[in-house]
Amino acid sequence: MFGASPKGAPKSKEFDDVYFSADDGLAETEHVFLDGNRLPRGWQGRDRYVICETGFGTGLNFLAAWKRFEDTAQSHQRLDFISFEKYPLDAEEIRLHLHPWAEFFEGHLSRMVQLYPALMPGFHRLALNERVSLTLVFDDVNIALPRLEARVDAWFLDGFKPSSNPDMWSENVFTHMARLSKPGTRLATFTAAGKVRRGLAEVGFAVEKVPGFGRKRDMTIGCFNQESLS
Ligand SMILES: C[S@@+](CC[C@H](N)C(=O)[O-])C[C@H]1O[C@@H](n2cnc3c(N)ncnc32)[C@H](O)[C@@H]1O
Repeated sequence: MFGASPKGAPKSKEFDDVYFSADDGLAETEHVFLDGNRLPRGWQGRDRYVICETGFGTGLNFLAAWKRFEDTAQSHQRLDFISFEKYPLDAEEIRLHLHPWAEFFEGHLSRMVQLYPALMPGFHRLALNERVSLTLVFDDVNIALPRLEARVDAWFLDGFKPSSNPDMWSENVFTHMARLSKPGTRLATFTAAGKVRRGLAEVGFAVEKVPGFGRKRDMTIGCFNQESLS
């Protein structure tokens, strides 16, 4: 099911899409998901910050969030990261795909790989350290998101392009995102597809198209229960 894009980024044969940009996956993650959700501003002054992601893939987004949190948050703050994945990679595949950033992530990549669970369906909670946890949910997001109880501060929507994976961008997912959000909860995604923006707006997110990463002209950011994103 996995291959490589011409420039080496991992690619899903099933969805005919890459896990991250072949140009610079980490720079894409930082632009789309971290800057798109205004991090670190979002967790300033917060004791606990909760990020929920649709599509864990290689864990690149998680590691980038963990690194930025560690570089910018105060010592009493906590980060809880929840991520859904229907077709989990194994630990060795992850290590291989993220090898180019092993130095940047210092010990974080090896710590994540060390604790990475067996590929059994269900919720797996990994305590990376005393401040950062990762809850990996190996299941279809449409089945597992309705079972989640949490207060989410930021959403990373990263489930392959809507045209090849429409299930990931369903009304069901959007409805449960709204249930788990509070006024001011933010979202960011690489896609600017009209169907996605309309679906998010219908459940209460103010959404806006902003410049995407690299050759992608647009992406989407949003904020729950607010008139505007300012
Ligand atoms: C673009 S990749 C995510 C890249 C990832 N965030 C990273 O940092 O490497 C999209 C992911 O969504 C997963 N996926 C696709 N459909 C899904 C579904 N219905 N439920 C949960 N995960 C799904 C894929 O297996 C894939 O790993």
